[in-house]
Amino acid sequence: IKSIGILTSGGDSPGMNAAIRAVVRTALYYDLNVYGITRGYDGLVKGDIVEMGAKSVANIIQRGGTILKTARSQEFLTVEGRAKAREQLRKHNIDALVAIGGDGTFTGAKVFMEEQDIPVIGIPGTIDNDLQGTDFTIGYDTAINTVVDAVDKIRDTAESHDRVFIVEVMGRDSGLIALRSGIGIGAEAILIPEAKIDFTDVLNRMDSIRKNKSSRIIIVAEGENEGGAFETAEKVKGRFPHYDVRVSILGHIQRGGKPSCMDRVLASRLGVAAVEGLIAGKSGEMAGIICGDIAFTPFDNAIKHIHTVNPNLLKIADILSL
Ligand code: F6P
Repeated sequence: IKSIGILTSGGDSPGMNAAIRAVVRTALYYDLNVYGITRGYDGLVKGDIVEMGAKSVANIIQRGGTILKTARSQEFLTVEGRAKAREQLRKHNIDALVAIGGDGTFTGAKVFMEEQDIPVIGIPGTIDNDLQGTDFTIGYDTAINTVVDAVDKIRDTAESHDRVFIVEVMGRDSGLIALRSGIGIGAEAILIPEAKIDFTDVLNRMDSIRKNKSSRIIIVAEGENEGGAFETAEKVKGRFPHYDVRVSILGHIQRGGKPSCMDRVLASRLGVAAVEGLIAGKSGEMAGIICGDIAFTPFDNAIKHIHTVNPNLLKIADILSL
C-alpha cells in the first residue's frame, strides 16, 4: 500500500485525536501518504478528504473529541452510497482505510471492505468499552474518571442533605461504565443490563444495613432495562417516603474532556499497530490490547455483544456496598 485514509465514526470518545495523530505519524514514518476523511462515512461518500502531514496532528494528543469530526451516515448504509465512497477513495489513490469507532463503525467497515474490496483496519474508540478483542476501548478510562469526578461532587451534597441520589451514566447496551465507576465512587447499588438484580433485595438492604447512612448513591446504566433512573427513584420513594431522593443524569459530559494518560497511550499504541497491520497485509480486523499485548480480532468477533461482565467486579461491588 502507498496511501491510507483515516476516519472517525459513531459517537466520539476522548483519545480519538491521539489515535489520529498516531496513525498519521506512523504512516509518514513508513513513507505512506495519509488522508483525513471528515465526518466519518458521510465524508467518505461526499469526498470530504484532505491530505494530512505531521503538522496537521500537532498539539492534538491532549484534546477531547475528534478533529476529523464524526457522524452517523444514512447514505453509507446503501450499496449506492458505498460505491460512491469507493469511487472517492480511487480518486484520491487511497488504497487502505483505518476506521476509528465502535460496533456501528466496524459493521460498516466489514460490509464496505467485503463489497468494495478495500483493506480496512479498525481501532476501538468508544466510551462504552463494549467491544471484544481489547481489554479497554479508547475513551473508557477518561469517561469513568469523569463519572467518578462528577459523582464525588454529588456525594458531597448528598452527605450534607442526607439524600439518596440515583445517577444515570452512559452505556447504550452496556453496564461497563456503571460497574467500574460505581465501584470507584463506592456506590450503594449498581444497576446494569448484564446483571439481573432483585431490586426488592436492594431496598431491603437499604433498610437493614447501616440504616443511619446519611447519603446513598445508586448508579444506573443508561441501558439498564428495569425502567431507568426515574423509575428507580420512584421505587425508592415508594418504599421509603421519608427519604429525600434526587435523580441526576450525567449525559454527554462523559463523552468529552481531555483524555487520560491511559487513553493517550492506548490510542498511540493502537494507532501504530493499525498502520503496521495494514502494511503487513491485514484487513477486516480490529487492533486491540489484550493483557498488555497487541492483538487483532476479526470485526465479526469484535462487535459480538457479550451480555456478561466480570463476576469478580460484581462481587466486590456487592461486598463493598455495605
Ligand atoms: O456509544 C457511545 C454512547 O455515548 C452511548 O453510551 C450512548 O448511548 C450514545 O453514545 C449516545 O449517542 P448520541 O450522542 O448520538 O445521543
